[in-house]
Amino acid sequence: MSDAIDILPPDLIWPARTVSGRGAVETLTQECAGFGRRGILLHGHSLVDGDHLSSIMAGCPPNVAVLPLCSPGGEPTLAELDRLLGEARGHRPDWIAGVGGGSTMDLAKAIAGLLHTRGELAEYHDGAPLDAPAIPFVAVPTTAGSGSEATMVSVLINEAATVKKSIRDPALMARLVVLDPGLLSDCPATVIAHSGMDAFVQAVEAYSSCKATWLSDRLALQAIEMINGSIEAFYATPSSAAADAMLTASYLTGLAFSFCRLGAVHGLAHPLGIRYRQAHGLVCAVCLPPILAFNRPALGKKYEAMCAAVSDDLIERTVHLLACFGMRSPFAGADVVDREAIVSETLASGSTAANPRRVTEADANELLDAIFS
Ligand SMILES: [Fe+2]
Repeated sequence: MSDAIDILPPDLIWPARTVSGRGAVETLTQECAGFGRRGILLHGHSLVDGDHLSSIMAGCPPNVAVLPLCSPGGEPTLAELDRLLGEARGHRPDWIAGVGGGSTMDLAKAIAGLLHTRGELAEYHDGAPLDAPAIPFVAVPTTAGSGSEATMVSVLINEAATVKKSIRDPALMARLVVLDPGLLSDCPATVIAHSGMDAFVQAVEAYSSCKATWLSDRLALQAIEMINGSIEAFYATPSSAAADAMLTASYLTGLAFSFCRLGAVHGLAHPLGIRYRQAHGLVCAVCLPPILAFNRPALGKKYEAMCAAVSDDLIERTVHLLACFGMRSPFAGADVVDREAIVSETLASGSTAANPRRVTEADANELLDAIFS
């Protein structure tokens, strides 16, 4: 019996419901009305630039009051969260939908979890438990992808403390996810490249994780194959069917790493990203080849399985994709600033703890040397 129980991850928290298909977003406000008559729709700029926002709002039932709020863009900070919480509290919402990329969904999640709390945001960011009930959070990704729609994690920057880390709580898990590939048709090429490579790295790290299970392995390997087969076509034609595959693969990846975590790439990406102010997907993508080389002895047959999924050597395939998308390392030839703090934060990261090969202080320094060479 214990073997059967061990097949399940010890704590499996996934979205309550997921609806998918082109046009699925048109009934978003009707679906959300089931959570209450007052809601907030936090969205990115791209939703206004296209005609998606007006078509979503047009479907709103007359007895439901929805306040649209525009997310500021860029990686979310506690200061932005504080401002948005003020606006949100004024509306007294029963639910919040985050319609946008990972940053928008992460902000909406944090608003859902912190709406009724009264403590300092920095304390919750430092790990204090959420001490008031959350409102339902609905996730609608417009990029592929952070996988944020499938996790209970909100990644935020505390600029005052120069720290980028997560608020994690089961209450932040989406009650409803809407996967509509039509929302990806206006995605700019740079966003497609950066977020698509983030999804690729996340799928590789989930499959490589020392906390991986048969379940995360199946989800992650499927995602690696789908991303590999569709990312270039999606980059060339965002309105193509490749968007369906990328959106699905990004979601599968989020489901996988929501319980098996990631690895040393994400352990390094947060301290590097906040100090060098570089896009998360770019940082992750350029860190992947040297960290894969470091991990390879610990991966055994799993490395071969990933090579089979991309029909190439995995490191060479990653380098090829970086070149295809014109993604150059912002670190090559640069000086490592704040080396001691970067190493310390990398070693303390929950992502690094899931890396398939243990990372020592000397290893972290050597990886930094390789990334900055
Ligand atoms: Fe990521």
